[in-house]
Amino acid sequence: MEPRTQQSKQAAKYESLSELLPGQAFIFMNHGFANLEGTDCISWLNESDRKYVYNVQLLIQALAGTEPRNKDILEVGCGRGGNCAILSRYFSPRRVVGVDVSSAGINLCTRVNSESMVTFIAGSAMSLPFDAGSFDVVLNIESSHCYPNRQDFYEEAYRVLRPGGRLCYADCLPPVRLDVITRALAHTGFILRETRDITQNVAESIKRRDQIHRELLLGAASSDEGRKSAVSIANSVRHRTFNNYRSRRAVYFIWYAQRPN
Ligand SMILES: C[S@@+](CC[C@H](N)C(=O)[O-])C[C@H]1O[C@@H](n2cnc3c(N)ncnc32)[C@H](O)[C@@H]1O
Repeated sequence: MEPRTQQSKQAAKYESLSELLPGQAFIFMNHGFANLEGTDCISWLNESDRKYVYNVQLLIQALAGTEPRNKDILEVGCGRGGNCAILSRYFSPRRVVGVDVSSAGINLCTRVNSESMVTFIAGSAMSLPFDAGSFDVVLNIESSHCYPNRQDFYEEAYRVLRPGGRLCYADCLPPVRLDVITRALAHTGFILRETRDITQNVAESIKRRDQIHRELLLGAASSDEGRKSAVSIANSVRHRTFNNYRSRRAVYFIWYAQRPN
């Protein structure tokens, strides 16, 4: 399939999801991260954000120690704006920009987020609409598996980062792709600071947050068709996706890479 066709298919899938599930509390579209030892609790989360605890834990893991304060941050594949919202609400960045190929998703993000330091722009990960050296951090969570050409994304992330800037990157993949991705990041010029396998944490998160995930999905639906999609997505994640991680037919990794100074 032509890369452009594949990209418009992905966009169409997420466009229709925004129409079927227009509700504003469903702001994350990732599987989250559960602590295998200890509890899932972030003391500084406001009561109204506690339902997102697993997603916020994944964001913190993906940041891998990067301090967002006073930084210019770009999230590529920002979905419904959850990561951008949490970054702006709790981490005092200088500026957060979310970019996504789905314009319906971008409209939803803009409607829901009122923080002045956050902006959302429709655009492709493989041709980012920003000048070279515009950001300190590029964040990418559970999105790159949709791209017809990941290498173009890595090159774009490298281009828009300032020297010393960080790519905070998390995604699912078939295990055989691991070496290819690691090599591609190095080939682009990134210094790979850390690679972590978080498959078990993600599988556990899917199990623990199943009920709240269903409630958020159903709460976002505004029609019978939307409710049917909500139930189908929740069941597919809880069973098919969970089993893929359990059996390691799919794995979930974090890469923490840096553009050299
Ligand atoms: C599973 S969602 C993850 C959203 C968000 N990162 C999160 O953690 O909630 C994947 C997102 O990637 C976006 N996406 C897919 N292909 C893209 C592309 N070529 N360029 C930019 N975004 C893309 C989709 O529209 C979707 O919003």
